[in-house]
Amino acid sequence: MASIPESIFEEYKQLVAELNQHNHRYYVLDDPSVPDSEYDRQMRALQEIERVYVDAVAEDSPTQRVGGAALQSFSQITHVLPMLSLDNAFSDAELEDFERKVKDRLNQTIEIDYVCEPKLDGAAVSVLYRDGLLVYGATRGDGSVGEDITANVRTIKNVPLKLQGDNIPEILEVRGEIYLPKAGFDALNEAARAAGGKTFVNPRNAAAGSLRQLDSKVTASRPLEMCAYSVGQYQAESTPSTHQGMLEALGGWGFKLNEHMETVTGIDACADYYKRLAQRRNKLPYDIDGIVYKVNQLALQERLGFVAKAPRWAIARKFPAQEEMTQLLGVEFQVGRTGAITPVARLQPVFVGGVTVSNATLHNRDEIERLGVRVGDFVIIRRAGDVIPQISKVVLEKRPPNAEPILFPERCPVCQSSVQRNEGEAVARCSGGLFCGAQIKEAIKHFASRKAMDIDGLGDKLVELMVDETIIFSVADLYDLDEKRLVGLERMAEKSAANLVAAITVSKQTTLAKFLYALGIREVGEATAQTLANNFGAIEPIAQASAEELLEIDDIGPVVARHIVNFFRNPDNLSIIEALRNAGVRWADIDLSSQDSQPLKGQTWVLTGGMQIMSRAEAKDALQALGAKVASSVSAKTNQVVAGPGAGSKLTKAESLGIPVMDEAQFMDFLSAQRQ
Ligand code: IVH
Repeated sequence: MASIPESIFEEYKQLVAELNQHNHRYYVLDDPSVPDSEYDRQMRALQEIERVYVDAVAEDSPTQRVGGAALQSFSQITHVLPMLSLDNAFSDAELEDFERKVKDRLNQTIEIDYVCEPKLDGAAVSVLYRDGLLVYGATRGDGSVGEDITANVRTIKNVPLKLQGDNIPEILEVRGEIYLPKAGFDALNEAARAAGGKTFVNPRNAAAGSLRQLDSKVTASRPLEMCAYSVGQYQAESTPSTHQGMLEALGGWGFKLNEHMETVTGIDACADYYKRLAQRRNKLPYDIDGIVYKVNQLALQERLGFVAKAPRWAIARKFPAQEEMTQLLGVEFQVGRTGAITPVARLQPVFVGGVTVSNATLHNRDEIERLGVRVGDFVIIRRAGDVIPQISKVVLEKRPPNAEPILFPERCPVCQSSVQRNEGEAVARCSGGLFCGAQIKEAIKHFASRKAMDIDGLGDKLVELMVDETIIFSVADLYDLDEKRLVGLERMAEKSAANLVAAITVSKQTTLAKFLYALGIREVGEATAQTLANNFGAIEPIAQASAEELLEIDDIGPVVARHIVNFFRNPDNLSIIEALRNAGVRWADIDLSSQDSQPLKGQTWVLTGGMQIMSRAEAKDALQALGAKVASSVSAKTNQVVAGPGAGSKLTKAESLGIPVMDEAQFMDFLSAQRQ
C-alpha cells in the first residue's frame, strides 16, 4: 500500500475538517454553509484519496458514518457513573412540592435558577470522548451496564466524531437523547406499510429499535438525531459552575442542543414554561413527553445529591399521555368522496393526548390484517398532535375468548354496489360512482368547502340532510335552491335559508383554480389545481389536454394526469360543469399571452406570523396567481419570506440564511405594483 505523500495528507486533513464543519452547520445548526454541489465535490475528492490511501482514513472522516460490518451481538459497557432516571411530577402541585423540598434541603429562601428542557421521547445514550475523539456510545441499559452501540452512534450525522473548538476535555462523557423526528417516523412506517412489513408503535420505539440494530447500515438509513442534555465523566482543566454553562460548552464542542432550553428563576417561571411549551408540543417536529427542570448551580446539585435512582436536583413534569389502552367495540365502513372504503374503529371512549377519543382510523384492509385486530380486543390508541388517532397495537394477552374477526365488506355499505380493489392499490372502493349516496354527499361537501367554492353555512350535516331528503342530487343542484325549498328542513328557519341562498349566489364568482379544486378530481389538490390554472389559463384546454400534454407540466405525474383525463372524458362530469356555468358560476381566465402574468413562476415564498390587512389564505391565493409556490417551511431554496407580527423560528431561520424578508405593508405594496 502506497504511503500518503505529505501534501496529499495535508489536503486530506483539510477536506475532513471542512466536511465535518459543513455537516455541523447542516445537521446541528440547521444552517447550511455551502450548496450541496460543493459538498458533493469535496466528498468525492475525499473518497478518492481514501480509495488510494486506505491506511490514511481518519477516524473522524465523514465517510466513517455509513455503517460497517454487522455484529454478532453487542458487548457490554459499564457506566462509570450510573445513568439515572428522573422522578415525575404530574401536576403544578407536585412541582411546587419538589421545589419546597429543594429549598428545605438547601436551607434556602431566595429563588433558585432552573434550566427548563423539553423531555425528548427517544432513547438515552452515553457517548464518550477521549482527547476530543469519539471512543464509544452506549445505551442506558439498567443504568449501571449498557450495550456498546458505538458503530450505530457513529452513523448519526449530528454526533461529532471529533470535538471542535477550544479547551477540549481529556475525558468527556456526553449524555443525551437519540430520537427520530416525527417526519422520519412517518416515512419509516409508510415504507414499512407499503412493503407489508412491521411498523413501529411510536417514534421512541423506532429510535430504540434503530439503535439496537446489529447491522449499523440499517441504523445509518434512519434519520436519527441526538440532543445533548448533560455530562457524565468529565476531566478537564476547568469546569463550568452551572448546568447552563456546561450545555453551552457542549454546544461549542459541536453538539446539538434542544432549541427550547431556557434558564428561569423560581418555580412559577417553571410552571409558565410548561404552559408555553405544552401549547407548542404538537407543532414541534419531534415527540416530547414532558419538561425536565434542573437546578442550574452545579454546587447546589452536588449538595442535593441523589435518592435511589434519581437526582434530587431534577424533576420531570409530564404532559398528558399520547398512548392509552382501550377496547375495540366495533368497526364501521365509511365511504369517501372517491368511493374509498375506510374502516373506522369504534372504541370505548378513552382520554388520550388531551382529548376523549372514541373513533380511530384503521386505514384499509391491509392495516386490519397487519394489526391482526378483532372486535372486542384491547388495543393501544395513539394520538400525537392533531393527527387522527390510530390503533398502534393489539394487546394479545388481553384478548377475550369471544373476540370476532373483522370482515371487510364485499358490497358498499351505502349503495350495495360491488367493492373493487385495483391491482397494487391498498384502497378498496365502491364502484357505484355518483349513484352512491355517500359519494354524492362527500362530493358536495368538498365542493362547498372553504378552499373550494367556500359556501358559508353549508355544513356537512346540512348536505347530508339535503341528499337524504332528495332535494339535491349533484353540486349543480345547489344553484337551483331557493328559500322555499330550504325552509322546513330540520333547524332551517327563514333567516338561515335566506343567508344560505345568498352565500350560494356569492360563491358563483370564483377563480379557475378554486373551481378546478372544487370539482374533486382525484389527486388534484389545491396546489395541482393552481398549477393547472396557471399553465392552461382556462378550463377548455384542460378538459381537452392529453395525458402527454399534462405530463409536460412540472409537478404533474402520470397518476394525476390519468385522473384528469378520465375525469374530463366522463360525459356526466362535463354536463355538471356545463350546468354550473349555465347557473352563473364564473371566473376570470388567466391571460397567458402576457409575459408578465406569472412574474413569480419558479419562486418559493413563505408566509409567517400574523396578517392584518389580508387573510393568510388570500395572500396565498394572490401569490399562487402570480405563479409562486407557497411553502410552509423556510429552506435555502426559499426566495422570499413575508413576516407579520409574532413571526418566530421561520423568521430567525430566514435571517440566518440571508433570505429577503418583507412585512405585510411591503407585501401589499408589492402586490399592487404587480397589478399595475
Ligand atoms: S436528564 C440525572 N434531561 O428522560 C438526569 N433526561 O426519565 C437524568 N430525557 O432516561 C436525565 N430528555 O432518556 C434528562 N432534557 C433531558 C431529557 C431526559 C429526555 C429522558 C432520558 C432519561 C429519562 C428520565
